[in-house]
Amino acid sequence: MNSTLYSRWIDGAPGPNEPDYCLGMPLPGGLAERMIIHEESAVSAPASMSDEEASTLPIAALTAWYSLMDVGHLEPGQTVLVQGTGGVSIFAAQIAVAYGARVIVTSSKDENLAKVKAVIGSADVEGINYKTYPDWEHKVLELTNGLGADITIDVAGGNGINQSVAATKVQGVIAQVGFLTGQTTALNLMPVIFRQTTIRGIAVAPRSSFERMNVFLDRHKIKPVIDRVYGFDEAAQAFEHLSRGPFGKVVIKIASV
Ligand SMILES: NC(=O)c1ccc[n+]([C@@H]2O[C@H](COP(=O)([O-])OP(=O)(O)OC[C@H]3O[C@@H](n4cnc5c(N)ncnc54)[C@H](OP(=O)(O)O)[C@@H]3O)[C@@H](O)[C@H]2O)c1
Repeated sequence: MNSTLYSRWIDGAPGPNEPDYCLGMPLPGGLAERMIIHEESAVSAPASMSDEEASTLPIAALTAWYSLMDVGHLEPGQTVLVQGTGGVSIFAAQIAVAYGARVIVTSSKDENLAKVKAVIGSADVEGINYKTYPDWEHKVLELTNGLGADITIDVAGGNGINQSVAATKVQGVIAQVGFLTGQTTALNLMPVIFRQTTIRGIAVAPRSSFERMNVFLDRHKIKPVIDRVYGFDEAAQAFEHLSRGPFGKVVIKIASV
C-alpha cells in the first residue's frame, strides 16, 4: 500500500485546510516502522513495484503526474520542460515520454543529462546544462522553434521563475512545484501578461490522481529511478544525500517488523 501525503484530500479541488492533515508536517511523518493511517488515506501500490520502489511515489511521482495530467492536461506530441535531475523531474520526464511527449531536461551536470537519456531514451529527451548556459531559456526556445515548452515543471523557484516564463509557450502552463533556490521571487509581470502564462501552485495531489497514476505506471512498466537505498539507521546520511541533490530518488529501507 501507499499512503497519501494530504491524508484527507480524496478528489476534486482541495479544501482550504488540506495542509492541516499533511503527513510529516504537521502530522507525524512516514519514517516509521509502523504507521496507523485512515483507510481513506491509502492506495494500492503498483503491482509491478517493490516496496522500495513504491515508497518513492506519494510525493515526487504524484506531484509530477498531477502537474502534467490534472493541471497541464498534457497531450502526446507536446513538449515538457523539467529542471534538474531530482525526484520530481525524473518522474515527470518518465511519465511525459511514456505519454508520447518530448522532454527537455536541464541539469548542472552533463553526466546527469547523459544518464537521463540512457534511462528514458535519447530520442525523446534533450538536455541543457544550466551552468554552461545560465540563459537556458534561450536554448529551450531554440529547441522548440521559438515557441517554448507547453508545460514547465519549475522546481527551482526564486527569480528563475522569470526564465521559466520565457521558456514556456504563450498561454502555456508553469507548474510551480519547488523552491530549491528560494521561496520568494521578483516576478517580472509584463512577460507573464504578454505571454498569458498560467503559473499554477502545486501541492501534491488528491488520492484519485494517485490511483490513476498507479494504473499508468503499471501499464507502462515505469520503474522509479533510485539513486541509493539506505538502511533505517542511516537515515541522517540519506537526508544529507538528498540535500546534495540525488539523481532521482533516495530511499530509506525499513526492515520488516
Ligand atoms: N509542491 C509540491 O507538491 C512538491 C512536491 C515535491 C517536491 N517539492 C519541492 O520541489 C523541489 C524539488 O523536489 P525533488 O524531490 O525533485 O528534489 P531533489 O530530488 O532533491 O532534486 C534536486 C535536484 O534539483 C536540481 N536543481 C537544484 N537547483 C536547481 C536549479 N537552480 N535549477 C535547476 N535544477 C536545480 C538538481 O539537479 P542537477 O544535479 O541535475 O542539477 C538537484 O539534483 C523541492 O523544493 C521540493 O521541496 C514540492
